[in-house]
Amino acid sequence: MTRRALIAGNWKMHMTTADAEVLASQVAEASKDATDRDVLVAPPFTAIGAVTAALEGSAVIVAGQNVCWEEQGAFTGEISPVMLKDLGATAAIVGHSERRQIFGESDQLINQRVVGGLKFGLTVVLCIGETLEEREAEQTLTILEKQVRGGLDGITPKDMTRVVIAYEPVWAIGTGKTASTAKAEEAHAFIRKLIGDLYEKDIADQMRILYGGSVKPANVDELMAQPDIDGALVGGAALDAESFQRIINFK
Ligand code: PGA
Repeated sequence: MTRRALIAGNWKMHMTTADAEVLASQVAEASKDATDRDVLVAPPFTAIGAVTAALEGSAVIVAGQNVCWEEQGAFTGEISPVMLKDLGATAAIVGHSERRQIFGESDQLINQRVVGGLKFGLTVVLCIGETLEEREAEQTLTILEKQVRGGLDGITPKDMTRVVIAYEPVWAIGTGKTASTAKAEEAHAFIRKLIGDLYEKDIADQMRILYGGSVKPANVDELMAQPDIDGALVGGAALDAESFQRIINFK
């Protein structure tokens, strides 16, 4: 089964609207010949409108970096799926390790976000990954299983076609350390098998599983050559148009 690759740039808390417009135009240009793969950018909420405008006519997908589960209401500081769609976003990242670690988001809360995003028609990129402590205690697979089961609780097989999983070992994010391709592939294969057990083989086979954590031009080709790595979620290197272009055009 061939899965369409997805290269996603997570801009985190960077970029004013003016800077975001420039970078978005560069990404549109960088990805125009990459017709056999999908490209996604997740700007900060404040820049989504400017980015979708700058990307008009390009196939680049725009995502929020998080999403609430309600359409509207008393949820100070949150952004609803309808608001994301209003600005032209069609996807949302959910459960990023920075949300889990810094803002204390639990699997249960993240599950609400996944459910809400899907209910309103968004594609959801569910992030999972173990900390260094968990890896050293040989709990990696247990943690991944807990995060997959928790995050996808109640998600129907039909909605799974709009779910992407991003495996991001916490110790590899922004640290310059990448998981060895063998370790990354081991985790990806485990996640795919788990999806097959929870749903069915077809769903597991079509599910895109991205790797994230210090993906760079220098390591993207080797990562993408692994059978169960279907794309990348890129932080730091996505802020530099030249690096992101090289990652989009992985070989
Ligand atoms: P990084 O971030 O590429 O800077 O390690 C990845 C992420 O947090 O999604």
